[in-house]
Amino acid sequence: MQNKSSLTIVLAAGEGTRMRSKLPKVLHPVAGQSLLAHVVGAAPKGKGTSLAVVVGPDRQDVADEARRVRADADVFVQTERLGTAHAVLAARAAIAKGADHILIAFGDTPLISAATLERMRTPLNGGAAVAVLGFRAADPTGYGRLLLNGDRLIAIREEADASEAERKVRLCNAGVMALDGKTALKILDRIGKANKKNEYYLPDAVAIANELGLKAAAIETDEDEVRGINTKAQLAEAEQVMQTRLCQQALDAGVTIIAPETVFLATDTTFGSDVVIEPFVVIGPGVTIADGAVIHSFSHVSHATIGKNASVGPYARLRPGTSLGEGVRIGNFVEVKAATLGAGAKANHLSYIGDASVGANANIGAGTITCNYDGFGKHRTEIGAGAFIGTNSSLVAPVKIGVGAYIGSGSVVTRNVPDDALALERSEQTVRPGWAKRFREMKQGGKGKPGVKSETDKKPAKMKGPAVSAKTANKPPVKKAASKAASRKKTPKRAR
Ligand code: UD1
Ligand code: MG
Repeated sequence: MQNKSSLTIVLAAGEGTRMRSKLPKVLHPVAGQSLLAHVVGAAPKGKGTSLAVVVGPDRQDVADEARRVRADADVFVQTERLGTAHAVLAARAAIAKGADHILIAFGDTPLISAATLERMRTPLNGGAAVAVLGFRAADPTGYGRLLLNGDRLIAIREEADASEAERKVRLCNAGVMALDGKTALKILDRIGKANKKNEYYLPDAVAIANELGLKAAAIETDEDEVRGINTKAQLAEAEQVMQTRLCQQALDAGVTIIAPETVFLATDTTFGSDVVIEPFVVIGPGVTIADGAVIHSFSHVSHATIGKNASVGPYARLRPGTSLGEGVRIGNFVEVKAATLGAGAKANHLSYIGDASVGANANIGAGTITCNYDGFGKHRTEIGAGAFIGTNSSLVAPVKIGVGAYIGSGSVVTRNVPDDALALERSEQTVRPGWAKRFREMKQGGKGKPGVKSETDKKPAKMKGPAVSAKTANKPPVKKAASKAASRKKTPKRAR
């Protein structure tokens, strides 16, 4: 913990043209959150800290994202893109407030950790005016090179301006810099643009500090932590690095992940103890998984809360607003959205539960659909505790199913059902004894005629259908509308 105040400046005014996307580069996601959110998330927070984000002109979306992650973020606009030092000075007003330490990070370097940013402050505490984060690049092409004299950092040379010998240096500038607040503006204001690109280079802060008789130091980190994202390929690489990191953290915390290389987590996934994640599970942002829960293979979960000992999947989809109570079972091909399921509720197969509340221990049969959308608005379905929804039911919202109520299979429920009632909505079943046998015989050799009883079919049928005529004989044995209506008349009224 530092007792010195800090200002973190995140540079996010770049155009990101190499991403070939309408979405600004820093808003592309890694592990379920934007590149910018990762960097902002690593910045020191709490008492004595402040944050500035430098965005390009007309980038309200980037400004909004910065404020979403850190409500106290100060947003500055760099109207012209004249280089990294120029971008830092767009936040001059924030620097002038006089924080003890100024930390500068790039918005497109999402793998940077809070610990490394904190470590950057150590040389400042030891009297340095500038601290630079370096790394040994597998391929240093394109990076600024750190030029050292013993442990003193003398200068950073950009690739375009470097000599043959300087280009051979593998220790590169990661882009993260820490400046002592007392001398920061003095140094930054001296940076010129006498270089090949005619840009104000932030790395020139090092040479200027040396000219002023101030000390500059380098701190090293692993290349994986400072990967900059310029292309979609680099975005995919960063995702891989981040996923490896997140799975490792989860495994260290005791989560069982059977095949980590197939599982995707988000940075904010929270796990209880003894959680099991089976292979091929994707967990998006905003997910909390309580003790003993199991997420079976091929499930996709985002913005959801999963209760103790709940079981999800295989092949389940939990969409935003899902909240599963203790011991809830969501089985294969079940989709849940904006719905709360009470403890012990079950939806084991092939269902859609959207904009709903399901009481404790209710049982949702296979194929049940909450019909929440009428083409204009969304409506809620409320299912009481202990209710039993028969398979293949459509619950047309808004609708309430009472506590302990039963819904007969195949029903289309449009009206509320009282507690402990049965609701059934389907046509009466017709049975014609011997019909199938007669049909087969007719088809197999003209023996017997359809509609005419054979020798073995002595009992008269209670529910007679019309005789099958020669015209309809080769059609499948279906009921005619007239007979259906007739048979319905005879049946007593059902609860609705
Ligand atoms: C920069 C460093 C280089 C380092 C490399 C690490 C400079 C001059 N060079 O090079 O030493 O090895 O990063 O990845 O700093 N930005 C603005 N406004 C500007 C220019 C840049 O906001 O006018 C932002 C970009 O959005 C980006 C960051 O600054 O987040 C870095 O800019 P970029 O153009 O990517 O610098 P590099 O050429 O990669
Ligand atoms: Mg870059």
